[in-house]
Amino acid sequence: ADEGMWLLALLKQYNAEELKAMGLKIPVEKLTGESEGALSEAVVAFGSGCTGSFISGSGLVLTNYHCSYGAIQQYLSLSNDITGNGYWAARPSDELAVSGLAITINKKIVDVTAEVKAQLRDAVDANSVKKAVAAVAGKYERQHPGYHILIKPYRNNTLFVLFLQLQYRDVRLVGVPPRNVAKFGGETDNWMWPRQSADFAYFRVYADKNGRPAPYSRSNVPLQVKNYLHISTGGYEKGDFAMSMGYPAQSERYATSYQIRQKTQVLNPPMIAVRAATQAILEKGMEKSQALKLLYAEKYATSANYYKNAVGMNFWVDKLHILDKKEAFQDDWWRWAMEDETRKAMYANTLQELKALTEANDRLKRAHAYYTECFSTSSDIAQFLTAFGAGFYNYNANRKKYPESNRNLVVNTQLYYRKMDMAVERQITKAMLKIIRDSLPADLQPEIFAVKHLQSNEQIDHYVEEVFKTSFFADSVKIRDWFKSTSGSVTNDPLVELMESIEKKQRETYRLAESNARRISALTTAYYNSVCEFKAGRYYPDADRTIRLSYGTVSDLVIGGKAVPCQTTLDHLVAKADTVNRDYLLNGDLARYWKQKDYGKYGVNGTMPVCFITNGDVTGGNSGSPMLNAQGEIIGLVFDCNWESMTREFNYEKDLHRVICVDVRYLLFVTSKFSGTPRVIAEIEQANQAA
Ligand code: ARG
Repeated sequence: ADEGMWLLALLKQYNAEELKAMGLKIPVEKLTGESEGALSEAVVAFGSGCTGSFISGSGLVLTNYHCSYGAIQQYLSLSNDITGNGYWAARPSDELAVSGLAITINKKIVDVTAEVKAQLRDAVDANSVKKAVAAVAGKYERQHPGYHILIKPYRNNTLFVLFLQLQYRDVRLVGVPPRNVAKFGGETDNWMWPRQSADFAYFRVYADKNGRPAPYSRSNVPLQVKNYLHISTGGYEKGDFAMSMGYPAQSERYATSYQIRQKTQVLNPPMIAVRAATQAILEKGMEKSQALKLLYAEKYATSANYYKNAVGMNFWVDKLHILDKKEAFQDDWWRWAMEDETRKAMYANTLQELKALTEANDRLKRAHAYYTECFSTSSDIAQFLTAFGAGFYNYNANRKKYPESNRNLVVNTQLYYRKMDMAVERQITKAMLKIIRDSLPADLQPEIFAVKHLQSNEQIDHYVEEVFKTSFFADSVKIRDWFKSTSGSVTNDPLVELMESIEKKQRETYRLAESNARRISALTTAYYNSVCEFKAGRYYPDADRTIRLSYGTVSDLVIGGKAVPCQTTLDHLVAKADTVNRDYLLNGDLARYWKQKDYGKYGVNGTMPVCFITNGDVTGGNSGSPMLNAQGEIIGLVFDCNWESMTREFNYEKDLHRVICVDVRYLLFVTSKFSGTPRVIAEIEQANQAA
């Protein structure tokens, strides 16, 4: 189908025939998740923004390298340069526990529409729906203690799908390749095709002796899974059927032209400006010091990723005339809506009102975007103080009453201070205050600007210097000692004063910006529901972090009649290698294998396939999704989309939009050559023989 992020619960109804016609060789029941042994059970939600899949009976999980930045960061240090050298656990005890990472498995996916309807009787208002859903969820919770029950309403509350989930919190890092192999092309190639990166990583899920989720413990054991995905090294041809399963996070395919205008013209510019400023500061620090380079690698990559995405979105919305297209669609819908008396009564003013409300909100939305980017994304110290600052005031009072919350405070403080460099934070704070000063109207600026007379650059610089010189929170040693002492409390801290002033205005701006949010949301929902009816046909809901199937074929990218081939090889990688742009530094070992054509059993006719593209429909959150052949075997690992597809959130363009995957043969080649231990590759091979 190329377009569509399909609900598994609707596959039989909407997609079974087409899947078969396109070449699917396994029964569609293997995909739907209603019964034991479904592929969906092996495709897991990795953390909160990625996908992974089980590839062995001992809980081995395959996902993207770029989904493991957070995990890597927890173990990265000057003496243990995991990014430069890669990391491979040679023994089970070398697998590294990752804090704050969970893996969620869908044990079963059930259509519970009838059960919810039975609770609802004839009521359809939002409150009754909520209650009915809660009642059904409660019933399943009692039947399945220890499981997480998620019920999602779809299709204007005519379909309810239940996800019976287990969430595992003891997840350990097993192996990652060196960064110059995993991320060859770096930020230069991000969101681009052609591509030559080995963007993969291995983790393992641990459980208690009975296979139940348990918090990290040394006595936990690898989770035994009956149902894992098999790998095919048989390759693919252009035109072959290929499907991916995963957890796309967000899309608004029926977004109005007004929403898209606001996103591109009002919200993206603050994001682009603030991130550019932040990255400039990080870059300077990272150039000067290896320690900062390691410390800020993740923050930099995260900032750069959606920065580039926003730039690309604006470019392509313009180039592809997305606003005109959406308007033409809205006109068609409107004519259809006005043909019928009931619809006319309901929708005569919908679009007009939406347009007016959206425009009326621009000023506040824009201001709020600045606040979020500056202080909830760029500045770590602001985020830390917002989340945990108050804890310090009550720390000693809480010692007896809430020991648990005090312990959390200590742990979170350590986590935050581990990833911050105060000199960098100070520079970011200065830069953010200047951006706010220059970009926001006076009534939307924090009071602190007036209180402290922050006008000129000199005034701001001087103020921030003083604040960081005197604040308790600018000194991690002071904090550590303070945790140990049993008396004293933190009061009148200048950094807290600054951040509180900012937060107050940020919250006020948000509240004002959201004051017509309910109305906008009601109108938008009404419009979306009506558009579903107007378009009729098969239905896929917008991405919402639930598991979906996307399918299409291995396809070239065709731009202006010229085809960019659907596959890259190691020869392309070597040809692209460069010493000026460090994103293209050639890994020495990789160069050697290439020279000797030493590809083991993974090469094909003297070359090594590296990446390929399909025309399926995915979006953010699909990172790490398995790309499967007609037999349901892994042929690749989804890790990106191409530059021409930056409008994906709002539409799907069959000719231009491509999904970028690592070829599984390259992935296995890199694993076997770079891991320095036979452990992982042996485990994978054994899992595939057992088939
Ligand atoms: N654009 C990809 C995504 O959002 C991330 C790719 C990571 N690689 C990189 N070079 N930044 O899923």
